[in-house]
Amino acid sequence: MSISYSEASRIFKLDTDNTTYMIGISPEGYAGHIYYGKKIGHFCGAGMLRCNEIPGPSVLKREKGGFQASFPYEYPTGGVGDYRVSCLDVSNEKGQNGCELCYDHYEISDGKPSLEGLPASFDKEKDGDVQTLKLFMKDPVLDLEVVLQYSTFNRENIITRSVILNNKGDHDLSINRVLSACIDMDNRQYEMISLHGGWARERHISRRTLAYGQQAVHSTRGVSSPQEHPFIALVTPGTNQEQGEVYAMNFVYSGNFVAEADLSQNSAVRMVMGIDPYDFCWKLNCGCSFTAPEVVMTYSHEGLGQMTGNLHDFYRAHLIRSPYESENRPILINNWEGTYFDFNADKLYKIAKDAHDSGIEMFVMDDGWFGHRDNDGCGLGDWYVNESKLQGSLKSLVDRIKALGMKFGIWVEPEMISPDSDLYRAHPDWALEIESRDPLQSRAQLVLDLSRKEIRDTVMDMICGVLHSADIDYVKWDMNRYLSDIGSVSVDSGHQGELYHRYVLGLYEMQERLVTEFPNLLLENCSSGGARFDAGMLYYSPQIWTSDDTDAIERLRIQEGTEMLYPMSTMGAHISKCPNEQVGRMTPFETRANVALAGTFGYELVISKLSDDERNMIPKQVERYHKYHSLIANGNYYRIHSWDDDEPFDCWVNTAKDKSESLLTYVQVLGRPNEVSRRVHLSGLDPVARYKLEEIVGGPSTDNPGDRNVDAPSLSRPEAVEELKEIWFGDELMNVGFLIPPLGDFRSRLYHYVKT
Ligand code: DGJ
Repeated sequence: MSISYSEASRIFKLDTDNTTYMIGISPEGYAGHIYYGKKIGHFCGAGMLRCNEIPGPSVLKREKGGFQASFPYEYPTGGVGDYRVSCLDVSNEKGQNGCELCYDHYEISDGKPSLEGLPASFDKEKDGDVQTLKLFMKDPVLDLEVVLQYSTFNRENIITRSVILNNKGDHDLSINRVLSACIDMDNRQYEMISLHGGWARERHISRRTLAYGQQAVHSTRGVSSPQEHPFIALVTPGTNQEQGEVYAMNFVYSGNFVAEADLSQNSAVRMVMGIDPYDFCWKLNCGCSFTAPEVVMTYSHEGLGQMTGNLHDFYRAHLIRSPYESENRPILINNWEGTYFDFNADKLYKIAKDAHDSGIEMFVMDDGWFGHRDNDGCGLGDWYVNESKLQGSLKSLVDRIKALGMKFGIWVEPEMISPDSDLYRAHPDWALEIESRDPLQSRAQLVLDLSRKEIRDTVMDMICGVLHSADIDYVKWDMNRYLSDIGSVSVDSGHQGELYHRYVLGLYEMQERLVTEFPNLLLENCSSGGARFDAGMLYYSPQIWTSDDTDAIERLRIQEGTEMLYPMSTMGAHISKCPNEQVGRMTPFETRANVALAGTFGYELVISKLSDDERNMIPKQVERYHKYHSLIANGNYYRIHSWDDDEPFDCWVNTAKDKSESLLTYVQVLGRPNEVSRRVHLSGLDPVARYKLEEIVGGPSTDNPGDRNVDAPSLSRPEAVEELKEIWFGDELMNVGFLIPPLGDFRSRLYHYVKT
């Protein structure tokens, strides 16, 4: 049993293999947080909740105000005396805000319930590794039942949380704020890690010292956003990859979110996560329920590396449903950066044919194949094939490309409508807009009101019709603007505050239909690059386009932040041409390939425009993807070094779960004068096993023609072929490490070690 309850101490204890989480019930019936941290083998529990303490001036009797303001609530509510950040604000029919929850009863069960209409983790194996605790809390004044759900995933050391509100009374209620998780921790100093960025520089890692007051990351853009990410970790000062305590929360949701740490007067820290309350008001009518999305929590006392490992294992085993999850994805070529809107069937066929001749396995036709979409100013919503551009039906193009032996994929953007489209001319009230106000256009497009079923169904009928018309293997689902002008003509004034969330629920319903109607489809989500790369979308698609920035050097930080949370198999990563379209940088073709190898590998270029040297390198890159991808996708990931101005090199390692092999990727961002070799270490090996260096890929050398594309000094390559015969102990490689010679700007190498 990983979840237990002691009636004597009124304490719930939730264990995973290495962690314990404890909740206590106070004499008044409040659910309080006792502990989250290293696993506790035995406990008695006396006085753990500190509910006999009497904060405030009174020494004679318990003073409720002082108590409320400092009690470590498991799920704090607003309006009744706790002035820290709250998780739940509910108002009654008169509009008065106040809610106070007391424990009623509990249920413990095996497995994990799903969450209606929402993505949520699951227990696939049903081997007793997953258990769920439901704490039933009640506010008798509001007649509101609040069910706090906790599921423990032993092996991955994860606890998930979600909350269900049930209006049991005969009065309608309004939920003004409903977050999904809270951890009240006392007397600790922390640093807060989050991910921030913007378009083409998503999920850069950011770290700050926690100060008094509230500090939050959030999104009110209707998508999880590239600016901030639905993730925070509180870490003890000095935490690195191997050391330090980490408390992490990650949200399984794709819309507005808030993740916040509140350091309050008693130096206690409250950490919360949930839907951002901005423009949120949900009418909870009598007899109705509301489900708040899931938060994934993990604790590590072995630094950030362990946090990453827990999350990777968890998402692979318990969130990504696609049949492709553990499969090598087909290597794709996408025509976007190669042609933009300027293509016809013959041009696409030629791109596909050249790609196929180099060993590439799938062709993806990007934006521009439908309606009259010859630029980004029109056509969204007109999901019928432009047969004059495609010189025939979609099926004829697909069949032609499939006859080469390739798979075929297609781009769609179902959530949007162009004012210049037949769909908009027929339904001018289908876009989100506020009465009498011109809605903001972004990329000349408006956002469809996905809260309306007839709109969702019409769009999905059109898109599914196209997909049924030809043998399509892959869909790239794009979304190219943030939400604004949140108003719906079909919703009355009392429900407009539900639109942001209803939009996300509508999106999930559409993607659910897609993966159900096409169970073998490989779905890749995308949003102006990586603006909606989140755990919610991973429930529908096993891979997400990581960023529109395809420059290998910019990608280092983007991929590092992304892979800190998500398995490498989820990151769409492509090789594109140089000078790079986003930053104009020239990098060796080889480095572009070595960096893209970290994700689901592909190309975003026209092969016939490459130099002969570059073109000749592709078959080897394809071979390398097949050799290494399963190790990268299914093994353990270790971050060895993050490049900075003082040490401008990036380095990571992928080691097989059974420790049989390890691949180290090294990218020298900048060269330096008088440079000496750098020592790097492998990780995750068997210390007493012997490992052979089986392959080195890359670095400047005369036998590497791609290097000639970049004007760089010719450096010698000390690793002679005979060196590859050498053997080391795992212990040596992990502790002494090995030396990598100076490579020069933007050069990279892979080192592959195999257990002998
Ligand atoms: C944004 C995506 O991130 C790109 O890859 C491309 O699909 C364009 N949209 C097409 O409009």
